[in-house]
Amino acid sequence: MILQKLNLLNFRNYEKASISFGPNLNIIIGKNAQGKTNILEAIEILALTKSHRSGVDPNLIRIGKEKAILRGRVKENRILNDLEIEIITGNKKIQVNQNNISRVADYISYLNIIMFTPDDLELIKNSPSIRRNFLNIELSQLSKTYLNTYNEYNKILKTRNEYLKLLFTNSIADKKYFDILTEKLIEKAIIIYKKRKEFIDCLNQKIDQIFFDISKQKSLKILYEPNLEFETMEEDHIREVMRESFQKNYEKELNNKMTLYGPHRDDFSFYLNDINLKYFGSQGQQRLAIICMKLAEIPIFEEVCKTKPLLLLDDIFSELDLEKRKKLLKYINKDLQSVITTTDLKNIQKKFLENANIYYVEEGKITRK
Ligand SMILES: Nc1ncnc2c1ncn2[C@@H]1O[C@H](COP(=O)(O)OP(=O)(O)OP(=O)(O)O)[C@@H](O)[C@H]1O
Ligand SMILES: [Mg+2]
Repeated sequence: MILQKLNLLNFRNYEKASISFGPNLNIIIGKNAQGKTNILEAIEILALTKSHRSGVDPNLIRIGKEKAILRGRVKENRILNDLEIEIITGNKKIQVNQNNISRVADYISYLNIIMFTPDDLELIKNSPSIRRNFLNIELSQLSKTYLNTYNEYNKILKTRNEYLKLLFTNSIADKKYFDILTEKLIEKAIIIYKKRKEFIDCLNQKIDQIFFDISKQKSLKILYEPNLEFETMEEDHIREVMRESFQKNYEKELNNKMTLYGPHRDDFSFYLNDINLKYFGSQGQQRLAIICMKLAEIPIFEEVCKTKPLLLLDDIFSELDLEKRKKLLKYINKDLQSVITTTDLKNIQKKFLENANIYYVEEGKITRK
């Protein structure tokens, strides 16, 4: 798919702006705090209905204004779709071709993105919830079943936790219903576990080679780490392990008043030659590992969605040496639409600039070179 056009109205530091993107490399240049990341964030919201930077919508609206409007025209297999998201404080209106859409699951496949931002360093450095969030966003784009299952899982989880509190304080509460909830939770968990494992397996088929091509270092691996030990990802086996853990740890869950096992406690780690990058990786290594993971996602998206995703790369060149920057650009400059930001054109070799659309951003004004 190709994002042909983006229009912004009262979004962040943009009062009114419009960009036509090319089908390959698009470069946004500007000094700090001019609005480069804001453009990528706008595309991110058009794709996912929310942004990684701000779950809080009021921040997205230009200061002093009441609402922001984002519009994008996406071309996919000769079909044009006009996407629109209106952000009003505490509310969001989503439209496709002027028709209102109420469920995110019905919207999320209109624009597929793979995005890298400097904040993604948190994917290695920070807590597991950030990694789970990453899995959720990517898998929601890849599978409507995943998104729906994940939402259902969360609902059951919430009820099960409330029930644990009830059982803790009131021993005559209905244990039978609790057992039904546990079974329901397990069935949803099985689907989530399998999809996550499959996704990480697919990433592992590609990430090592990409990391080697760019850094000449072997062998990068992602290790999926559920908080239960599964020998296989066979449905029956997952069911059995989960049932057993819930039975064995009933008292423990009761005392904690919460569900202690399941995909809501998942994690994953990056290993370079069996060394955990979280503890032993340099900042540059960590950054590159994450960029490579995002690049490894491209063929997965292509295969599953039968269309190429849009690649958004915010400030990818910082902390990478010249050699790696060159190799990375070669990787990006394939038959794929990408939007990248940089503060300095010197980061990009001439031969790449020739085929790129270049835009300058200054104080929320965009000009095409
Ligand atoms: N709601 C808002 N209303 C008006 N201006 C805003 C709003 N939110 C953010 N800004 C402004 O947007 C600018 C930041 O834009 P952005 O993050 O896109 O910068 P950038 O070009 O990516 O900079 P850097 O190179 O430092 O990453 C800041 O000047 C900030 O004050
Ligand atoms: Mg920025």
